[in-house]
Amino acid sequence: MITAAARLAGILGWPVAHSRSPLLHGHWIARHGLDAAYLPLPVRAHAFPAAVRALASLGFRGANVTLPHKEAAFALCDARTPRAERAGAVNTLVFGEGGRVTGDCTDGWGFLRSLGGVPVARGPAVVLGAGGAARAVAAALLDEGCPRVTLVNRSVPRAEALARALGGPVEVAVMGAGPLEGCALLVNATSLGMRGQPPLEFDLAPLPPDAVVADIVYVPLETPLLAAARARGLRAVDGLGMLLHQARPGFEAWFGILPEADEALRRVVAADIPLR
Ligand SMILES: NC(=O)c1ccc[n+]([C@@H]2O[C@H](COP(=O)([O-])OP(=O)(O)OC[C@H]3O[C@@H](n4cnc5c(N)ncnc54)[C@H](OP(=O)(O)O)[C@@H]3O)[C@@H](O)[C@H]2O)c1
Repeated sequence: MITAAARLAGILGWPVAHSRSPLLHGHWIARHGLDAAYLPLPVRAHAFPAAVRALASLGFRGANVTLPHKEAAFALCDARTPRAERAGAVNTLVFGEGGRVTGDCTDGWGFLRSLGGVPVARGPAVVLGAGGAARAVAAALLDEGCPRVTLVNRSVPRAEALARALGGPVEVAVMGAGPLEGCALLVNATSLGMRGQPPLEFDLAPLPPDAVVADIVYVPLETPLLAAARARGLRAVDGLGMLLHQARPGFEAWFGILPEADEALRRVVAADIPLR
């Protein structure tokens, strides 16, 4: 139940019907008994800038942004947080006085939190992918003290461009060239392994026994990569934690409470996602 004073936010995307964000924000709103609502906001690419201005005029506190709008959102903001600048993308909009739009990117922060206390400074990381998610993850790892990040991507020029954009201890390796020796953390930030996509075929044998394997793909929850990691006795981190944690800063900015990505939330959202 909401009143006329309800705080409003939502998720802008096209399509948006598959998004779990209304489910998880709705869970937090109910859990904290807030006079608030979080809505699915399906908007096509051409209508995105007008839709953002309209939401700000309507008194929305802000919105999440998903495909295909993450780059358009970056361009449209009046101000951006340092981590959004670093990620080159925006997934969270906060509307301020006079409709001023501030853009944040919480994906990297969410990814780090999803590791459950694994210290990223303990050794080098290998990030598979060079798209928007790979950039956010690699930037967060570097900014958190990871001593070296190796990018491995199908398109090598794209990985090289990302390495240049990130700066610092970043190198590029090609698939199958064995960058895994001494690797403390392997992250799949490609879309491989996602439902409807080809599987990710990657030999985990060279990984040290204490390496952590993370997959940011969360549909299915248990990707073939994570299953292979567990079969080797490696610690495996699924992509659902990143999804839950990345939502927290936006909720705090709009509704005034930093919510927990706890087991209860995980159960609610996991029930909506196939395990395999
Ligand atoms: N858990 C979360 O909260 C969260 C958040 C954001 C994203 N994600 C997931 O992360 C994944 C990547 O998202 P994104 O936004 O970074 O996408 P993107 O910008 O489109 O990048 C896709 C990446 O996957 C690679 N790729 C795609 N198809 C491939 C294939 N057949 N063979 C080899 N490589 C392939 C691409 O390589 P090329 O550069 O060579 O094309 C690129 O590195 C998606 O599955 C998304 O659902 C999860």
